[in-house]
Amino acid sequence: MERKPLPAHVGIIMDGNGRWAKAHGVPRVMGHNAGMQSMKKIVIATSNMGIKYLTVYAFSTENWKRSTEEVSGIFNLIVKYVNSELEELDANNVHINIFGQYDMLPQASIDAIDRMVGRLKDNDGLVFNIALNYGG
Ligand code: FPP
Repeated sequence: MERKPLPAHVGIIMDGNGRWAKAHGVPRVMGHNAGMQSMKKIVIATSNMGIKYLTVYAFSTENWKRSTEEVSGIFNLIVKYVNSELEELDANNVHINIFGQYDMLPQASIDAIDRMVGRLKDNDGLVFNIALNYGG
């Protein structure tokens, strides 16, 4: 089967998590968890497809205005993502860059991110850019 050329770069704005939670009658943080599960699958799928760059807009400077519960829930998800996915990301040769001022996140999230970025730094497969505390 003839394959259409792939895009070099795919960008995703993580949006709709709140609407998903509302539609399912669950707390907003569960919507963010579902969004993260989708993101997990997309990272491995784009890597397997041979796409070179994936950029995910995960947390903007505007997002600090949300409730403390929601914001800390999102930061906890980042730690959870690193703990559960780091081995698979490495096995898939994924390289991660962080865009944004992530040094303003809670220390547990900063530590998890630094551990992930450091472990994957020599990988030369998919370049997975995560925008965290970004503005524009
Ligand atoms: C917007 O949805 C989404 C967010 C503010 C946060 C998304 C971030 C994560 C789930 C963490 C990702 C993890 C890593 C490791 C990058 P929304 O609540 O604005 O949705 P709505 O438009 O339906 O209200």
